[in-house]
Amino acid sequence: MSKFMEWVDARFPATKMWEDHLSKYYAPKNFNFYYFFGSLALLVLVNQLLTGIWLTMSYEPSAEGAFASVEYIMRDVEYGWILRYLHSTGASAFFIVVYMHMFRGLLYGSYQKPRELVWVFGMLIYLALMAEAFMGYLLPWGQMSYWGAQVIISLFGAIPVIGADLTEWIRGDYLISGITLNRFFALHVVAVPIVLLALVVLHILALHEVGSNNPDGVDIKKHKDENGIPLDGIPFHPYYTVKDIVGVIVFLFVFCFIVFFFPEMGGYFLEKPNFEQANALKTPLHIAPVWYFTPFYAILRAVPDKLMGVVAMGGSIAALFVLPWLDRSPVKSMRYKGWMSKIWLLVFCICFVILGVLGVLAPTPERTLVARICTILYFAYFILMPFYTRMEKTKPVPERVTG
Ligand code: HEM
Repeated sequence: MSKFMEWVDARFPATKMWEDHLSKYYAPKNFNFYYFFGSLALLVLVNQLLTGIWLTMSYEPSAEGAFASVEYIMRDVEYGWILRYLHSTGASAFFIVVYMHMFRGLLYGSYQKPRELVWVFGMLIYLALMAEAFMGYLLPWGQMSYWGAQVIISLFGAIPVIGADLTEWIRGDYLISGITLNRFFALHVVAVPIVLLALVVLHILALHEVGSNNPDGVDIKKHKDENGIPLDGIPFHPYYTVKDIVGVIVFLFVFCFIVFFFPEMGGYFLEKPNFEQANALKTPLHIAPVWYFTPFYAILRAVPDKLMGVVAMGGSIAALFVLPWLDRSPVKSMRYKGWMSKIWLLVFCICFVILGVLGVLAPTPERTLVARICTILYFAYFILMPFYTRMEKTKPVPERVTG
């Protein structure tokens, strides 16, 4: 075996890569619960790719055949139902995992110098993930697939001058049709997954270049032993590979429980109108995107003007991109930041959840008012960040991690 590896290593850096990224990648020893979600995101990504490939074997990307082919997968294809439920539940699981992963970043200042690029690649992954989920949702060709896509694509119509032409170009037709379905299929199955995979590689390479942050936000490279190994670092493999397996097992328990017993999740993971075939002549009474888009949808609806609504929705995502340059705090982790940072993060998270709930519900004047207040607070979190992070009194950061 070692002879064989010598032969390989003389031609390809296999052992070097294994050491650089696993057995000699020194990660802080104080990773906590929130650090499970990076490896879980990888797991869900693999699940989506594998189940997606097998679904594609029986799915038919045409307006005439798509809906029926999904029913065929559910009823006739052997284990087709489990492939589909793993994929549809996987989509929601992906967003739950990624939201927890991003929250960890906010909590411990993982986006701060020198991890700005890790964060920016992460945000690009998030954008690609949203595009991937949006296009995937058209494929079953149900009522919500059709009308959800109709609402979102028509948003581009709000852009001055080019709006009308742009929507037509995206659809490839005067209305959403089999042509739209076909291109969404190509993008969902080939183009975006390639982009996603490439971004994940860049994300991890950028992280391994600078090293992982940790719940204390202290730099473990400041204190090294005589061999240059960080005193508070442990090799990723075997320590965290084994620890991550614990997270994987717990996650799979919950995930499989949902796949087997609640795959529709009361209409949140698979919406009820989507069990009816798409009909261009019949608009559903209430159109709502899947839960993971609803905070942004609520921001869109909170603004009375269509163009300004689109700008606000875009801005709410763009603001996350520039987070590393808005946070001026001398410390990274929330453990050592002042009370203002803590309150604002809490306000931001509460507003995000409230907006998410409001985005599912039909609008009423009272709900719109609440959505407007939450939208203002959402943006205030970012706009005021350079001020409160500089003004507040921080706690002293320990030299070494605190266990
Ligand atoms: C497919 C989606 C994603 C995958 C597979 C992924 C994977 C990973 C992995 C394996 C790690 C190292 C382990 C860990 O720290 O948990 C990591 C770290 C990180 N990720 Fe992601 N990630 C994804 C999406 C995102 C997104 C959307 C963001 C934020 C916008 C993000 C921001 C970060 C940051 C800041 C770190 C460094 C954390 C630290 O060192 O404290 N990631 N990611």
